[in-house]
Amino acid sequence: MKDIIDVKIKTRTVDFLTCETDLLVTGHFSDSKELDKLNSGLNRKLDGAIERLIELGDFKGKDGTSAVVYGNTNICAKRVLLVGLDEKKKATLDTIRKAAALAANRAVSMKAETISLALHRAFGGRLDLGKMGQACAEGTYFGSYRYDEFVTENDNGRLGKLSVEVIDSDSAKTRKLNRGINSGVIIGRAQSYARTLMNRPANVMNPAKIASAAKKIARGCKNLSCTVFDEKQLAAKGMGGILAVGSGSENKPRLIILKYTPAGRVDSNVPTVGLIGKAITFDSGGISIKPAPNMEQMKLDKTGGIAVLCTLKAVAELGLAVPVLGLIPSAENLPSGTSYRPGDIISTFSGKTVEVQNTDAEGRMVMCDALHYADKEKCDIIIDIATLTGACKVALGSYMAGLMGNDEKLIKQLQRAAVESGEKVWPMPSGEEYAKEMKSKIADLKNIGSKWGGACTAAAFLRQFIGERKWAHLDIAGVELFEKATEFSAEGSSGFGVRLLTSYIMSLAAH
Ligand code: BES
Ligand code: MN
Ligand code: ZN
Repeated sequence: MKDIIDVKIKTRTVDFLTCETDLLVTGHFSDSKELDKLNSGLNRKLDGAIERLIELGDFKGKDGTSAVVYGNTNICAKRVLLVGLDEKKKATLDTIRKAAALAANRAVSMKAETISLALHRAFGGRLDLGKMGQACAEGTYFGSYRYDEFVTENDNGRLGKLSVEVIDSDSAKTRKLNRGINSGVIIGRAQSYARTLMNRPANVMNPAKIASAAKKIARGCKNLSCTVFDEKQLAAKGMGGILAVGSGSENKPRLIILKYTPAGRVDSNVPTVGLIGKAITFDSGGISIKPAPNMEQMKLDKTGGIAVLCTLKAVAELGLAVPVLGLIPSAENLPSGTSYRPGDIISTFSGKTVEVQNTDAEGRMVMCDALHYADKEKCDIIIDIATLTGACKVALGSYMAGLMGNDEKLIKQLQRAAVESGEKVWPMPSGEEYAKEMKSKIADLKNIGSKWGGACTAAAFLRQFIGERKWAHLDIAGVELFEKATEFSAEGSSGFGVRLLTSYIMSLAAH
């Protein structure tokens, strides 16, 4: 099996014109009337090639566009890649992250082994240089990522490594950029690792395999520990939800518990955060089986759980001063003679009984046990993340995750983290009206509501298992997958959640 591309990132103080590189990357805003200082300097050395490119209308600086100009003997770069930054007034950190991703994606496609990023130059003093360095590193990992570990014959090979530098001619600026590089590398690597675990198919990744991946990560990070409940321990604890969903498969369910305890002193007003992620390694629907078309995409039903796992990896490597408990309920939802059935009444860990009306609403069945565990463990804040409902995908498409919750401040903080990280969220309701739809005549709850508002009823179901805790829910069905490759990324898993959750925990550590 091949490893993913080995990305190395650093900063360097060097003159842009004498920088030796396969690909020198600069940015250009769609609404800027003229070339900025860097681009016009390059343009002069390139005999006006950049100006001609723009005058011909071949490059307008729009989002997701780029143009290559080949170097000459006046500059030391083999190629210059101009990346569109769109309108200047709309520019955020995600603008530079996406530009770096686009550049890295193109570099891998054209087999450029060295990239020199000078994207920050176009922004002037608008954004913090450290944060821009971080965004460049994250974007580079994101755009260069490829999932081909089982491809034995690539058409014409693929780069084994990519060497990236963020450059400036001013050493004070490189020093500032460098402040964010380390964090960006940690987060970028955690996300790429997450994407690989997510992309792995269900014959390779079952609940026990996720548990061993978690143990391996915990062994590699100090202050991170991992405990796994197997099916016997789940039974002993009375975690009926997780057991019910896992009952149809030979691959037995697990509850994976990761605990991050910061090394230093933790400020007394910093909350303990519980992160809970759904890890269904394959969701066939169970006895309420799904239609065949696109069912293969349900290998990605473990995305939330892996996002939690790799967020803990990043948080531990960053050494953030916030205690975090990660809970990953994992099961495979298959139909068989031992499966749970529609009509079954399940006693969950909380003591609440649930009448199963659809075995395909399995996410909430595993999540409710983990949520109650987080409540019992006294997490001050509970955030769960799950590919929970097709209804959320219908509502929001594949650009934003649904965000529900019971605490205004927490919702705001997550919205801010979404802007910072470029993993977008949109607020949705989950209150009483939706909960009422799930009253059962023969149990405390049933596991589905009416035909409408499925993302909201699913969230309202989870809400009944968090006790009095502050809680937010991210429904990531729709954003977990790129069905096709884009300018910024290869197809397959998006790794959604790692940047968002890490950014949220970083914001807690900073205050
Ligand atoms: N894993 C699915 C949700 C999903 C759908 C994720 C599409 C990604 C893309 C979830 O377990 C599910 O099957 N939900 C059902 C709920 C229904 C039975 C109430 C759904 O959305 O149809
Ligand atoms: Mn399902
Ligand atoms: Zn599912």
